[in-house]
Amino acid sequence: MKDNVLKNIPLFADLKDEILEKIFVLVQKRVYKQNNIILMEEDAGDTLFILNKGSVKITRLSDNGREVILSILGDGDFFGEMSIFDGESRSANVIALEDSEVFILKRGDFLDLLEKHPKIAIALLQEMAIRLRHSDQQIEGLSLSDAENRIAMSIIRLAEDLGVIKMGQVIINNLPFQQDIANMAGTSRETVSRMLKALERKGLIQREGRKLIITNYDEFVREFG
Ligand code: CMP
Repeated sequence: MKDNVLKNIPLFADLKDEILEKIFVLVQKRVYKQNNIILMEEDAGDTLFILNKGSVKITRLSDNGREVILSILGDGDFFGEMSIFDGESRSANVIALEDSEVFILKRGDFLDLLEKHPKIAIALLQEMAIRLRHSDQQIEGLSLSDAENRIAMSIIRLAEDLGVIKMGQVIINNLPFQQDIANMAGTSRETVSRMLKALERKGLIQREGRKLIITNYDEFVREFG
């Protein structure tokens, strides 16, 4: 049999082929177009989503209706686990940033898998620890630093979540729109535009269409991280 597509999903890393084949029978594939709403805050939810291809933004609306981006997830990431575990409604909106393909797993099947294969549970906990660390950093960043630092920190986060490392550079192929970066950093689109231009002038980044290259990632992190 040809390689199981689930092989590239970090949650299922190290599982034997026969187990991956059993999981594959349980999942349903669905595609979303750019800007489609995949999950809505406050909806009831009992399914896990695994992003096979594409990227999504996790958002909430502030009291004055402004979109706040909590995170951006890319290839191989999962979402929808929180409602499965605590039985509450969806904690955030999930919106496709580009045309995306997901695998959907029912709550009961997912909980069964966690019981049968502790490796999946450990991978899930590792990823949840990383997300909590990110959220801690975001809270710290929002309260402590000025808008320019918050934008730089958002770029570092995008590099970590979506970037590809190549000889000291980090390439983000499909940079989210400036308004999305502004909503991650809690600032305006104009400030993001100004800051990107300033970073480009300093040679810290290069831009080609939707592609953003961080010229020397270590240096960038030293300066802003
Ligand atoms: P759930 O609450 O079921 O639906 C919305 C999903 O967004 C949630 O599960 C998580 O998978 C995801 N999510 C919510 N908050 C964050 C966050 N701070 N970072 C990353 N993902 C999140």
